[in-house]
Amino acid sequence: MIVDSPFDVHNDNLFFRLTDFGPGFDVFLKLEGLNLAGSIKLKPAVHMIEKLERRGVLRPGVSRVVESSSGNLGVALSLVCKAKGYSFTCVTDPNAPLATRRLIAAYGAELVVVGERDENGGYLHTRIRYIRRLLASDHSFVWTNQYANPANPESHHLSTAAEVDAAFPRVDWLFVGAGTTGTLGGCARYFAEHGPETRLVAVDTVGSVTFGHPAGRRHIPGLGSSRRPEILDLANVADVVLVPEAETVAACWEVRDRYGLLIGGSTGTVLAATRRASRDILPGDTVVAVSADLGDRYADTVYDPAWVREHIGVVPSPWQLRPTEAA
Ligand SMILES: Cc1ncc(COP(=O)(O)O)c(C=O)c1O
Repeated sequence: MIVDSPFDVHNDNLFFRLTDFGPGFDVFLKLEGLNLAGSIKLKPAVHMIEKLERRGVLRPGVSRVVESSSGNLGVALSLVCKAKGYSFTCVTDPNAPLATRRLIAAYGAELVVVGERDENGGYLHTRIRYIRRLLASDHSFVWTNQYANPANPESHHLSTAAEVDAAFPRVDWLFVGAGTTGTLGGCARYFAEHGPETRLVAVDTVGSVTFGHPAGRRHIPGLGSSRRPEILDLANVADVVLVPEAETVAACWEVRDRYGLLIGGSTGTVLAATRRASRDILPGDTVVAVSADLGDRYADTVYDPAWVREHIGVVPSPWQLRPTEAA
């Protein structure tokens, strides 16, 4: 296979079987970290940029791209912008893993780390306020705006959801983490059209306000938001499950120890949610979960016991991850 651009290097058809992950069921983990940006965010990055190009909004050598990202979209846009000749400014916060920040800088992007927490205890409002000031002061900046841009969910409707559908004769359950809700929205629309029997479960972190729950401090990047994303669409979402960060870490450690697979933080959250929903999952059901990235960028956080002790606290043993009511 010969490719001409770095964002054509990917493998979208790999599902890692976690045998007996839940009581009586396997989980098929759709690995989205197998591309050069290392995460699912390469898909919306390419699609958002190419749609802006088609509309004539982005012009190489003139336009400068800006985005707010806790890391993964930042890496993906750094790669895509470098390949296409745009300068890129990534506005991020102290929760973004150091390794991710270094990668963004390595691509030559400008990195702005805001330090002030917003009124909900997160950083999103602060990041957005920074971008609005930038756009007002310099008209060469173009904001991809992943929280409001319909090209974000559209990219998953065209790829992620269609790839899940093509891999199995029937999907009974699909667990998807919610950050911007782009993956969730794209899957929801796709399965409403092509597989209404599939039960789509949105997974979020305790402390996120996306689904109307109280705000709180969160430490693991990827899922959750301190403001409701404009693109959020709850039509065709069967359940919402909220997972505390201690369970996220427990699931990550369990997958490492049982299967030898180092998954990213949000994948642990999504897998913990399958356990929480397991009372409703019937033997023989096909359960698919989307894994947004792998664990290599979490060596200093989720997989560092000292970091976990300081920021998360006590991690439940796997056998304590028993089914509970969905949040
Ligand atoms: C690791 C990780 N997991 C999950 C998500 C959530 O994806 P989405 O923004 O499509 O909701 C993100 C988004 O940046 C992410 O970086």
